[in-house]
Amino acid sequence: MELTVDYGDGIDSWKEVTLIYNAALRQVETKMEILNDEFQHVHQYNPIEHIKSRIKTPESIVKKLKRNGYESTIENMVKYVNDIAGIRIICSFTSDIYRIADMISEQRDIKVIGVKDYITYPKASGYKSYHMIVTVPVYLSDRIVDTKVEIQIRTVAMDFWASLEHKIHYKFEGDAPEHIRSELVECARMVSDLDARMLSLNEEILTISRAREEEKKTV
Ligand code: GTP
Ligand code: MG
Repeated sequence: MELTVDYGDGIDSWKEVTLIYNAALRQVETKMEILNDEFQHVHQYNPIEHIKSRIKTPESIVKKLKRNGYESTIENMVKYVNDIAGIRIICSFTSDIYRIADMISEQRDIKVIGVKDYITYPKASGYKSYHMIVTVPVYLSDRIVDTKVEIQIRTVAMDFWASLEHKIHYKFEGDAPEHIRSELVECARMVSDLDARMLSLNEEILTISRAREEEKKTV
């Protein structure tokens, strides 16, 4: 179902948009917390370290529309700005990323409308993350509105790199000197190495503890 808004009254329309996107964000957040709790219950392990969410500011929405050559209307923002509601899921290991993505896709009321896998195909900047654009139904008193939410899934290490890289690039307004850019790519490579080593350590630890459990049983 399309998002219907009252184009006749700008303030009311904007308020309505904020209300609907906020509701969508809260729903996805709650779903993720429930999945994490269930995972803890079944596997005695939390794949999610923490969750951050935000609603894009009106200034930032207008800037994005302008950059892409669209007029600043409510209709255009709903249609063309996929990250008005954004949620970032920070997990422990790279193996958790696809596990979480699968759990999201399997939710019956979530519809995945787009995926960008910057884990398998990192950006030229060195950026790694798994992005999903999904819709969730928001139940209002008189209608159901399928609302878009951008989900970014990344490890703690990837998040550390992305936060600092964003700050550095912001200072240079995207026009950083070449040697700084290549240093950042090198840092991204170190972060990927770290993730790989942590993952293999974790796998080794799991194997050892499973073997010890088996030993206990046979004694
Ligand atoms: P935006 O207009 O920035 O939203 O990009 P897009 O709509 O083309 O989508 P894309 O998947 O490329 O990026 C979406 C979001 O991912 C961005 O808003 C950032 O949060 C994050 N992102 C993408 N590339 C980079 C990067 O090189 N560095 C950092 N720090 N974050 C990035
Ligand atoms: Mg964005």
